[in-house]
Amino acid sequence: MQSYHVTTLNEFIIARQADFPYAKGELSRLLYAIGIAAKMVNKKINKAGLVDILGESGEVNVQGEEQKKLDVFADEQFISALKASGEVCGIATEENDETVLFDDDLSRDAKYLVCMDPLDGSSNIDVNVSVGTIFSIYRRLSDRGTKPSMDDFLQPGKAQVAAGYVIYGSSTMLVYTTGKGVNGFTLDPSLGEFCLSHPNICTPETGIIYSINEGNYRYFPEGVKKFIKYTQEENASTRRPWTSRYIGSLVADFHRNLLKGGIYLYPPTRKAPEGKLRLLYECNPIGFIAEQAGGKAVNGHENILEISPLSLHQRTPFYVGPVKMISVLQSLLD
Ligand code: AHG
Ligand code: MN
Ligand code: MN
Repeated sequence: MQSYHVTTLNEFIIARQADFPYAKGELSRLLYAIGIAAKMVNKKINKAGLVDILGESGEVNVQGEEQKKLDVFADEQFISALKASGEVCGIATEENDETVLFDDDLSRDAKYLVCMDPLDGSSNIDVNVSVGTIFSIYRRLSDRGTKPSMDDFLQPGKAQVAAGYVIYGSSTMLVYTTGKGVNGFTLDPSLGEFCLSHPNICTPETGIIYSINEGNYRYFPEGVKKFIKYTQEENASTRRPWTSRYIGSLVADFHRNLLKGGIYLYPPTRKAPEGKLRLLYECNPIGFIAEQAGGKAVNGHENILEISPLSLHQRTPFYVGPVKMISVLQSLLD
């Protein structure tokens, strides 16, 4: 009889611990906790369309409690899973103005901290379109056992120890890097496990997809307008106009482009002169994954991972994709 073995996320994490000779399993336990929380959020998201007919939603649920928005639910799930892991001293998320610091003995002694967008693309939930979770893990700079400082959270993206995202799509996937390549795991609902499905993801060297909210065209910098014109011509590299694809969930747009070869752009606009996306928990983790898969992320003139953040919710223009596509873009930007 033919036998086969699927590698689960947990098995993979443990096997890869050997990549870090001094690792004591803390990062492994932390990644494991993220995987568990992702499954809880996945379960909730899958039921999102049903809540109306099952009567759980509306203003008030059967227990007389207000129904939580999914991004708040996701935020709470990840925070409690990371707190329970005991491997995280604090977390910064889109849903919290200030950092959330864990003050129990175990967590205060932990060496990692996390920046996270618990639910990305949340406006797409109501219309059954892919959404995601994005996370970024740093080693703290302050001494273990003390309260983490703001400087711990404001490290440049190049200091990330690990980063990843979960995409709740036609299937649910977890994609992450610890700086030694990028691996993707698909949730097998019958097993309730993330199974290795996309080992060692490498993005195509170039491609024909561009992803941008073109409704903002008139407010784009001239260089971005020139780039869009370039994609729409029969240009030398592709000999055909490129294909435009835009979902409006960064995770979903990036994931497609990572696998198929494409560039994602969120330039400054009049409404968002600094760009819309957040450096700490959207651009840095996606930038790290892109780089590990052979791509690149920039703010126009600087590598995203080189930027020293000044505040938790800082925004930045963001361009990410294969190195060759980013080079063409940069040659057109002022
Ligand atoms: P979030 O749901 O976490 O607030 O993020 C939404 C972001 C990102 O996912 C997406 O790429 C972008 O907003 C879309 O913005 P536009 O609607 O302006 O195109
Ligand atoms: Mn987001
Ligand atoms: Mn969000």
